[in-house]
Amino acid sequence: MSVPYNQRTHSCGELRAEHVGQTVVLAGWVNNYRDHGDNLVFIDLRDREGLTQLRFNVDTDPEATKRARTLRNEYCIAVRGEVLHRGDQVSKKFHTGEMPTGEIEVSVHEIDVLSQSETPPFEISDFVDTNEDLRLKYRFLDLRRPKVARAFRIRAQAARLIREYFAEQGFLEIETPFLTKSTPEGARDYLVPSRVQPGSFYALPQSPQLFKQLFMIAGFDRYAQLVRCFRDEDLRGNRQPEFTQLDLEMAFVKADDVMGIVEGCLARVWSEILGYEIKLPLPRMTYADAMSRFGCDAPDTRFGLELQDVTESLKAITADEFGVFANALAAGGIIKAICVKKSEGAEKLTRKITDGLTEAIKGIGGGGLATTKVQGTADAPEFATGIGARIQPYCAAICKATGAEPGDQLFFAPGKPADVAKYLSFARIRLAHELGLIPAGHFEALWVVDFPLLDWDEEEKRYVSPHHPFTMPLEEDIPLLATDPLKVRSQAYDLVMNGEEMAGGSIRIHRGDVQRRVFELLGISEAEAHAKFEHLLNALRFGAPPHGGIAFGFDRWTMRLVGTDSIRDVIAFPKTQRAVCPLTDAPSEVAIAQLNELGIDLSAELKAKRKAAEESSSMNVGDHIHKHGQ
Ligand code: AMO
Repeated sequence: MSVPYNQRTHSCGELRAEHVGQTVVLAGWVNNYRDHGDNLVFIDLRDREGLTQLRFNVDTDPEATKRARTLRNEYCIAVRGEVLHRGDQVSKKFHTGEMPTGEIEVSVHEIDVLSQSETPPFEISDFVDTNEDLRLKYRFLDLRRPKVARAFRIRAQAARLIREYFAEQGFLEIETPFLTKSTPEGARDYLVPSRVQPGSFYALPQSPQLFKQLFMIAGFDRYAQLVRCFRDEDLRGNRQPEFTQLDLEMAFVKADDVMGIVEGCLARVWSEILGYEIKLPLPRMTYADAMSRFGCDAPDTRFGLELQDVTESLKAITADEFGVFANALAAGGIIKAICVKKSEGAEKLTRKITDGLTEAIKGIGGGGLATTKVQGTADAPEFATGIGARIQPYCAAICKATGAEPGDQLFFAPGKPADVAKYLSFARIRLAHELGLIPAGHFEALWVVDFPLLDWDEEEKRYVSPHHPFTMPLEEDIPLLATDPLKVRSQAYDLVMNGEEMAGGSIRIHRGDVQRRVFELLGISEAEAHAKFEHLLNALRFGAPPHGGIAFGFDRWTMRLVGTDSIRDVIAFPKTQRAVCPLTDAPSEVAIAQLNELGIDLSAELKAKRKAAEESSSMNVGDHIHKHGQ
C-alpha cells in the first residue's frame, strides 16, 4: 500500500512532544542521511516549515529500511510512522532552538519515493555559503533552505496583515494598469512596444501615482494597493528594477492623517510579526534639521555622532595656518565636525581605522577627512595628532562648540554644505559600525517633514522636484512661489527607519493655479504638461477633492522584518545588480521576426554583435559534432 501523500497529517516543522504516540503522514525532501550500518538509518526530512528526524529500524520495519538505504539528498518522499520521544537522545539543536522538533522522531513503517533527485549544485543548508549567481540560477533549490524559506513566510504574513489593516480602515484595493504611460517618478521607464500601434510604446508604471489621484477625483476616497512598480535605475543599495509598494491615497485629509494611518500599520506589523513595540506617534524631524544634524534626509537615529558646525570657531583661520580650511571658508563654504566621545570608544580609533576612513572618503569624491585627538584638561584642552598643531589656536572655541573633552576625537570636513553633509554622513555611519555603536535588534523610526518643494540642479541650471511635480507646497509658503521658490517647503513626508527611507508621500496639489505655477518653475511648458499629464489636468477641472497619499517599499519593510541586508533575500526571483535574472536568463534576445512585427529595427552595431554571436555559437556546435564524430 502506498503512503497517501495527499493526506499529510502534519508539516515537518510542527511535530512536538505532545504528538508522541500519534501515527503521522509526512512528505518532503531528504535533508541528510545517516546510516548507522547495523540496524538503524536516520534521515532528516524537510519541508517549508522545518525538519523532522525519521528513524528506520531494520528489525521492526525491514522493507522501509531497505528502501531508506536507497535514498539520497533531495529525494522527494512520503512516509507514515509513529511519533516517538527521543528520551536521552534529544537533539542538542532542540536546546539551542535551532530544531524545535528535536525532542521527537518519527519511526517509519512505510515509505514511498515520490521522485529522485540529481545531486544538487550546492548543499541545501543554512550553514553553507554559496555564490549568489549559482543560488539564483537554481533559486527553486535555494528556496528550499529553511532560512530562505522563512523570509517568504514572513513576507506573506506581512502582506496579509497589511491588507487586513487597510481593509479595517475602510480602504479599497483596486488595481491600476501596468501597460500605461510614463509617470514622472525620476527614474527611466521600462518600455513595451505596441504591435497594434507600431512606433508607440507603453511604459510600465514607476508607481501608480496619477491613477491613484484619479481615484480620489472619482470619489474612491480611501485606496490602498500592494502593487508592483518598475524602474530602470542604478541598482545600488536596496533597489530592484521591479519591486512592490504598498501604495495608498486618501481624500479630505491633511498630512497628519496620512502619517497616522501609515505609522499605525507599521506598529501593527512590527508588533504582530516581531513582538516589537513601536511607540506612537513617531517623532518628526524637519528636513533642515536632518541635513544639519545628520547630513542626510534619511538619518539613522539609533546612535549619536551628530554633525556640529564649527565654521564660527574657525572663521579667523589663515591660509598659513591651514590652507584647506581657510580656502573653503574664503569660497563661502562651511566646516563641520563629528566628535567621537571617549565613552563612545574614541580610544579604539587606531591609525589604521582613521586612515581607512580617509581613503573611503576619497573613494566617494572627497579630499579625505581631517582628524585630531583632544588632550590636556577640561579647562585647558589641547589638540594632539593629525591636524591638531595647525588649528591649535582655535582649540578652546572648537571644544566649546562641539562639547569635545580630553579623550575625545574630532573629524572635520570643510567645503560646500552639500559636500560636507555627504562626507560627514558617510563618516558617521562608518564610525558607528567601527565602534559598534549600532544596537542590534533595535528599530528607530521617524518622519522627515518640510522638504524643500524644489531643488536647484547646478548642472542643468534648472529647478527640479525632489518628490514629484504634484506635491503641494505648505500653505503659508505659497506666496514664496512668486518671490523665492527655493524657500518653499512642501507638504511631503518620508518615513525613515534605521537610516533608510521606508516610505515617501505628500499632499497633492488640487488647485489648477498652483499646479500651473509649479510646472512653470520646473520648466514644464503648458504643451508638455498637456502631452504628459493631460488626463490628470483634465480631471483636476472636475471638482478634485483635497487629497494626499504615500507609498512604502514593501520589500524594504520585509527586509527589516526578516533581518537581512539584501533586498534579493525577500524577492522570490530577484534580478542581479546588472538587472539580469540568472534563473530565466532574462533579458534575452528575441527573433528578428518578432521585432519586425513590432516595427523595431536593431542598430547596425547590435546587429553586428548578434551576427558575431550566432557565428561563434554555430562554430561551437560544429566543434561539438566534430569531437563526438557525429
Ligand atoms: P517613492 O519614489 O519615494 O514614492 O517610492 C516609495 C517607496 O518605494 C521604495 N522604493 C524602492 N524599493 C525597491 N526598489 C526600488 N527601485 C525602489 N524605489 C523606491 C522606497 C520608497 O520609500 N508615487 C510616490 C509615492 C507617493 O507620493 O504617494 C512614490 O513612488 O521604500
